[in-house]
Amino acid sequence: LIPSSVRIVEVGPRDGLQNEKQAIDIATRVQLVNMLGAAGLKSIEAGSFVNPAWVPQMAGSEEVFTQIKRDDKVRYVALVPNLKGFERAISVTANEVAIFGAASEAFSKKNINCSIEESLDRFKPVMDAAKERGIPVRGYVSCVISCPYEGEIAPQKVAQVSERLLAMGCYEVSLGDTVGTGTPAGVNRMLEAVLSVIPAEKLGVHFHDTYGQALANIYASLQMGIAVVDSSIAGLGGCPYAKGAAGNVATEDLVYMLNGLGIQHGVDLNKLIAAGQFISDKLGRQSGSKVAIATNNQ
Ligand code: HMG
Ligand code: MG
Repeated sequence: LIPSSVRIVEVGPRDGLQNEKQAIDIATRVQLVNMLGAAGLKSIEAGSFVNPAWVPQMAGSEEVFTQIKRDDKVRYVALVPNLKGFERAISVTANEVAIFGAASEAFSKKNINCSIEESLDRFKPVMDAAKERGIPVRGYVSCVISCPYEGEIAPQKVAQVSERLLAMGCYEVSLGDTVGTGTPAGVNRMLEAVLSVIPAEKLGVHFHDTYGQALANIYASLQMGIAVVDSSIAGLGGCPYAKGAAGNVATEDLVYMLNGLGIQHGVDLNKLIAAGQFISDKLGRQSGSKVAIATNNQ
């Protein structure tokens, strides 16, 4: 069942930088995206078009999208919460957008200021506009294992919300362990419920590494046929509305594991490590990637 190739969705420039204390300058954000593309990543979430009063770090995403050096092989993805965000993303020719819902009512309320049902209503005009323009839409479901406000989340709830997003026209759903509390046993239970209604080809996984379980959870997911994995350069990331959540699994660490498993991914590990070094230097701290640290110590 384990896939022979994996599509990596790089979320560092968005999930990573949205969570930094200070905003990162546009030139740095642009260079990071360019370096990630040059390393061979084909899906890069380059920014988000949310209300800048909510997430100031992502203000200026228009400039990022207009200044990056476009590569035809790369899809530059924009996170959008509503039609206004979609229009901002389209004005700077994002190739793909991602809408984001949750399997937890309380998290939905904190993160996007509405209930799950209301969020699905808000996504409808985005789906219509995207269809009209031929823009692919990815759907996120947050809190697939646990919620920072509600605790444990029922796998059935994750399956239901994921089905709704696909029925609306998302080409794929990314299942997010926002808090990073999951372990392979819980991930198995969650994926069993989701896979009973959705084929593996339409699913991706998105693990935050707060409890150090992300790689183990990815391995468990691969064994269940999942072939799309989100990751973040240098392990950057978190969510401003999930306090204490650490970054996503580091892209460098994911690539190293896939190499060991003989799974294809199309990414050059050395170039990736250089991109991670670049952003870690800019942030003035050690990389969150163990592979990057080990490589640099050799
Ligand atoms: P709201 O306040 O309910 O929105 O926020 P509203 O529609 O009532 O509008 C209020 C004001 O916001 C208006 O301005 C709008 O124009 C403006 P005013 O008239 O007061 O001057 N506004 C916008 N401005 C710019 N761009 C927009 C936009 N929309 C409205 N797109 C809203 C609702 C969704 C906008 C808000 O809650 C928000 O921006 N939330 C974003 C939170 C966020 O970005 N969280 C992090 C990303 S999610 C994540 O990290 C999880 C993920 O990684 C997966 C995982 O790990 O689980 C994806
Ligand atoms: Mg995330």
